[in-house]
Amino acid sequence: MAGPKRALVTGGAGCVGSNLVVELLRRGWQVRALDDFSAGKHEHLKGIPSDRFELREGDIRNLQVCEQACRNMEYVFHQAAIRSVSRSMDDPQATNEVNVRGTLNMLQAAQKAGVRRFVYASSSSVYGDATQLPQEETQRPQPVSPYAVSKLAGENYCLSFAKTTKLETVSLRYFNVYGPNQDPESKYSLLIPAFLAQAGRGEPFEVHGDGLQARDFSFVGDVVAANLLAAQTPNVSGEIFNVAGGKSISVLDVAQAIVNIIGKDPGKRHTDRRPGDVRTTWASIERAKKLLGFQPSVDFEEGLRRSVDYFRSTGWLG
Ligand SMILES: NC(=O)c1ccc[n+]([C@@H]2O[C@H](COP(=O)([O-])OP(=O)(O)OC[C@H]3O[C@@H](n4cnc5c(N)ncnc54)[C@H](O)[C@@H]3O)[C@@H](O)[C@H]2O)c1
Repeated sequence: MAGPKRALVTGGAGCVGSNLVVELLRRGWQVRALDDFSAGKHEHLKGIPSDRFELREGDIRNLQVCEQACRNMEYVFHQAAIRSVSRSMDDPQATNEVNVRGTLNMLQAAQKAGVRRFVYASSSSVYGDATQLPQEETQRPQPVSPYAVSKLAGENYCLSFAKTTKLETVSLRYFNVYGPNQDPESKYSLLIPAFLAQAGRGEPFEVHGDGLQARDFSFVGDVVAANLLAAQTPNVSGEIFNVAGGKSISVLDVAQAIVNIIGKDPGKRHTDRRPGDVRTTWASIERAKKLLGFQPSVDFEEGLRRSVDYFRSTGWLG
């Protein structure tokens, strides 16, 4: 069938999903988004003026919903998940249902619909307490939290489908994503939106443990670019790629970088280290560079500035 490329974005109302939807539409694709709005928001997709866009509300735990959503699609970008490590500690069953069963549902549905390629949002958390740094895809994963286990299970299902069916799959291990359309309101917010929201309320930054734990950060625009490369690069089915900035930054340094941009220092409040949290993430992105031509284009300071702008535009930062 000629015409625009057709893609389904699951979790399309979430942070990565909504940014991906906008970029795909900008490139002329026909896009369907599927989300149950458990974490995603309608406002992330508000005002998308396109006859090439369709929004469906539905739950990936339901196989029939997945089958209907995959119908007529050439590409699937599977972003829908329960994303939080700490939520998976509180409720591992829910994380397993959505992240493992939901991913298997999506793979089955995509295969049945004759989808060409399935791009899966995996996570740096699969490395867990692996001590070799920077983290490389060939290392043995050592997941710690139920969330990390669920993301690794999804990867393994992707590999299985790539090996045993005609469906091509690629897994992308995102390292801490940040940028516009992140939710600062949930108790499961990620570090940067949580810090920005605390600064907005005039509260001190809540630092878990000593703050020397460090993370490699990925600006959401670079994550979107990696998804497009993963969908369209030939001969990479069955591959797994790190997607990151390639630099490890401590929590204390993140706080300082925010202070430098917003021009005020709310101070810090140290709380206990959270169970399931790993000490350091730091990605080797050589494989993604070599096989996908991936190159992060937004450095940390610039990405943080764009996050601050977004938070200001929503009123969260005052
Ligand atoms: N944000 C990060 O730092 C990060 C890091 C590594 C991996 N990831 C992965 O990237 C993907 C996107 O993350 P994000 O930051 O955009 O998270 P997000 O929470 O903003 O988006 C996830 C979306 O999935 C939707 N969803 C949840 N359960 C669903 C269900 N049962 N059916 C349909 N939709 C459902 C939510 O409503 C939300 O819109 C996730 O798979 C996550 O595990 C994220």
